[in-house]
Amino acid sequence: MPDNPAPLTHKPEWQALTRHRDELAGLAMRDLFREDPQRAQRYLIKGAGLTLDFSRNRLTDETLNALANLARVCGLEQRTADLFNGNTVNITENRPALHTALRQPAGSRVLVNGTDIIPEVHATLARMDTLVSEIQCGTRVGHTGKPFTDVVSIGIGGSFLGPKLAVAALKPYWQGNLRCHFVANIDGTDITETLAQLNPETTLFLVQSKSFRTQETLENSLVARQWFLTHGGRESAVADHFLAVTANVAAAQEFGMAPENIFPMWDWVGGRYSLWSAIGLPIALMLGADNFRALLAGAHAMDCHFRDTPAEQNLPVVMAMLSIWNNNFWGAESHAVLPYDEYLKHLPEHLQQLDMESNGKQVTQQGVPVDYQTGAVLWGGVGANGQHAYHQLLHQGTRLIPADFIIPLKSHNPVENHHAALFANCLSQARAMMTGKTEAEAVRELVNSGMDRPNAEALAPHKAIPGNKPSNILLMEKLTPEALGALIALYEHRTFVQSVIWDVDCFDQWGVELGKQMGNEILPRLLGDENSGTSDDSATDQLINLFRSAHHA
Ligand code: F6P
Repeated sequence: MPDNPAPLTHKPEWQALTRHRDELAGLAMRDLFREDPQRAQRYLIKGAGLTLDFSRNRLTDETLNALANLARVCGLEQRTADLFNGNTVNITENRPALHTALRQPAGSRVLVNGTDIIPEVHATLARMDTLVSEIQCGTRVGHTGKPFTDVVSIGIGGSFLGPKLAVAALKPYWQGNLRCHFVANIDGTDITETLAQLNPETTLFLVQSKSFRTQETLENSLVARQWFLTHGGRESAVADHFLAVTANVAAAQEFGMAPENIFPMWDWVGGRYSLWSAIGLPIALMLGADNFRALLAGAHAMDCHFRDTPAEQNLPVVMAMLSIWNNNFWGAESHAVLPYDEYLKHLPEHLQQLDMESNGKQVTQQGVPVDYQTGAVLWGGVGANGQHAYHQLLHQGTRLIPADFIIPLKSHNPVENHHAALFANCLSQARAMMTGKTEAEAVRELVNSGMDRPNAEALAPHKAIPGNKPSNILLMEKLTPEALGALIALYEHRTFVQSVIWDVDCFDQWGVELGKQMGNEILPRLLGDENSGTSDDSATDQLINLFRSAHHA
């Protein structure tokens, strides 16, 4: 527990930040750059192969110290130790959150209830290696003896988004000719369109579900199984084509999975932190075992950086504290993640679950309602495309939207001057957000281009850009498995640090459950069960009746 029990907004360190914010209110970042030629250098830090330039934020050394003080009195050091040591950090579910253990090297020790979990983690990795090599070498084949050509991962949320991100992001590292598909949605279109591309003799299905209770995943798996059986597969061949990754072995066996085809997950791994476990099988199958281990090594390097580096030099801590600064002190409501790399196109989706499912909370760990904002809306998409779509709102909208620009120094596809142009776009966006353009500058520009002064003055307010908008630039040498591992782990720890400051449980997701519960009540009524009651709201009942008349006329 934090040494200072005062509620967050009553802590002197919080109040010091409020006063400091008021002092900085009239300050323009572009003036800070003008006054201090060392600013860029001072606010550039490195860790685990990543470089963070956070100089384009409304901050001074005093801000950084004040944010580090807040982190200290919120007990960040102890909470970080708790996270790594397997103490109970998921309070409402009474368990640890040990995704960091999944990327620990063999030989290290992490105890859960007195048992070292690292041997089991590495035994599972060894089973994954074997599967990957059997499929790559063709010693494990489909029921008619043909090598596998396609792998279909059926899972949703954390059992989907991380693997989908990593498989797409690391395409230059794919080995062999396997194709990978993801089915997540209960919308029948997802499984139908996927199965339409497949040959049942050469398709391997991975049923990915920590709980093995998720409706979307179980229903899609049943459809896949039926499709397999009606397209030449025998019941006895199901075991050759269906594998499961789950913490609920009994439910998987009940579903028909052979014990040797079930890869373990553990209670102490949260769904949105599970790509490092056997849930990462699609990644290992596409990239090979060595590259999967390189991804883990990159994440482990970030874990060490996070655990061992002082706050002011610590990438996840600095990024989290800047987010607190922008969110709680400057009123930012959302956060844009803008990867300038086509291969990272799924990063915002993964980070959305990671951040919003983790920190979308309204009570403290003790169940007391908070009187401050918690998780921001996270959104984004690849640059430069976004520049021609939503960046307008970043530059001239009324809301404050801090952004993370993410770009590798070198491209996997060096075409003509494309990468330099991409880099120029990325830098120009961060610079434009920071400097903006005053009305006087706009007038001058227009007059210099030949417009008469009255017209220039009339147009200038539309061309003026306020600037002073915060952003970070995250760089890596190249998008390698190690770099991607470090990048994802960086955001995991950023999410955790934010939760420590806000004092919320970032490892539960009770809000998701109500929708699931209500969905289970509504479904039988849509299917025509007359005895399944009514809702106590006419809006739901009316649309249930509409659906029923469309289907049971
Ligand atoms: O519905 C949200 C959620 O509970 C996520 O937290 C989780 O990643 C996802 O569902 C899938 O859960 P499972 O792996 O148990 O099928």
